[in-house]
Parts: sequence; C-alpha cells; structure tokens
Amino acid sequence: MVEIKGPISGYLYPHKAILVELENLEKLSATLLTRNDALKEFEEKINFMKLFFIAHEDGEEAALYPAAERLRKGLSKPFEWDRHISEQYFQAISAAIAECKTSKNLPAAALKIAQTTAALRAFLEPHEVKEDEILLPLLDAELPPPEQGKVIGAAMSKFPPSSVEDVEKFLIKRLSQPERVGFLKIIKQGAPAETFKAITGWVKEVVSPAEWKELTAQMPDLK
Ligand SMILES: [Fe+2]
Ligand SMILES: [Fe+2]
Repeated sequence: MVEIKGPISGYLYPHKAILVELENLEKLSATLLTRNDALKEFEEKINFMKLFFIAHEDGEEAALYPAAERLRKGLSKPFEWDRHISEQYFQAISAAIAECKTSKNLPAAALKIAQTTAALRAFLEPHEVKEDEILLPLLDAELPPPEQGKVIGAAMSKFPPSSVEDVEKFLIKRLSQPERVGFLKIIKQGAPAETFKAITGWVKEVVSPAEWKELTAQMPDLK
C-alpha cells in the first residue's frame, strides 16, 4: 500500500470500516440460513450501511472524484459508475429481506439475502480498495494539504448533522486501536474544538475501559 501522509489519509478510515462491516454483514447473512431470529439484526445493520454508503458516496461525488478528475481527465467516471451498481445490490438485498418476511419458502429467501450480500461485498470491497490505491495517493501527491483538507470538509458536509453521532460510533467500533489514534488525530487537525470534544465522548462510550485507557495514554488531549 502506498503511504498517504496528508489530510486526505482521513479517507482510509471510513474505507477500512466499510470493509470490516461488509465482512460482518456477509457472515451475519450466512447465519440467516439457520437462524430466522437474526433477520431483524441483519436488516438494521444493512439499512445503516446503506445510509452510510450513500452519504459517503455523495461526499466523494461532491469533492473527491471532481478533484481527481481535475488532475487526471476521465479518472472519476469508473468510480461514479460503481455507485449505481452498488445501489442495485442494496436494493436487491432490501427486496430479498421483504421476500424473507413474507415467503413460505424461507430457506430460499434467506439464501437470496446471503448470496446478494456476498455479491455486494465482492463488488464494493474492490471499489474502496481502488480509491485507497489509486485516488488517494494521487490527491496526496498532487494537492497541497490545505486543498486536501477542503476536499475532506466538502465531503463531510454530505452527512446529515443528525447522523454524525451514529456514524462516528460506527467508524470507531470498526477500527483497530492504532487506526483509532490515526483517525482521531486527523479529526483533531480539521474539526472545530467542540466537534472534537463531542467525538471524544462518543469514543469513550463505544470502546472498552482498557481500550480508552490505552487511547488516552497515546493521545492525552482525548480526555
Ligand atoms: Fe466511492
Ligand atoms: Fe469510498
């Protein structure tokens, strides 16, 4: 992996969380074949993932892809195109969930959810990895740090304010301890002090006491 040093490296963390959640969703969907009681949990998780993904892509379309397009003409199109295919998978999963709720043939409906979720993961994972390996290194190499910060700020504005707490908790839960530190350092650099303070409160809520102790030892300004 190419090392990305500037503020645009903030994108690596939501991408990592997306990959972790796609794996979680695929595993959970496979349990539906034997556990009908997991359907509600799966539905809540896939619905959150869909909302998160749409805001994430809205932000990329507003800022990340246009910045890459200005540097390399034609580069953004394939990434924009991927979005439509991903949304079709999300729709197919929602349809399979509805079928699972009403179908008399539950094993067949559950199998459809599991297969479509595996297909979503197989498609969306390389999309995020290509962004990490192609778009972010280009922007890091060719955009000065303040411009990178503007791209991140414009992308973040696509998340509805009411979703920010849930989104930050979702991300933090899915990152490793070193990734949490890296992510929080980027937030501290770019976010207003009160936003950073609110986020530190949410971090404390979702990590274990031992993890919190370790994080505050490495980043004393979290306290
Ligand atoms: Fe994307
Ligand atoms: Fe992305």
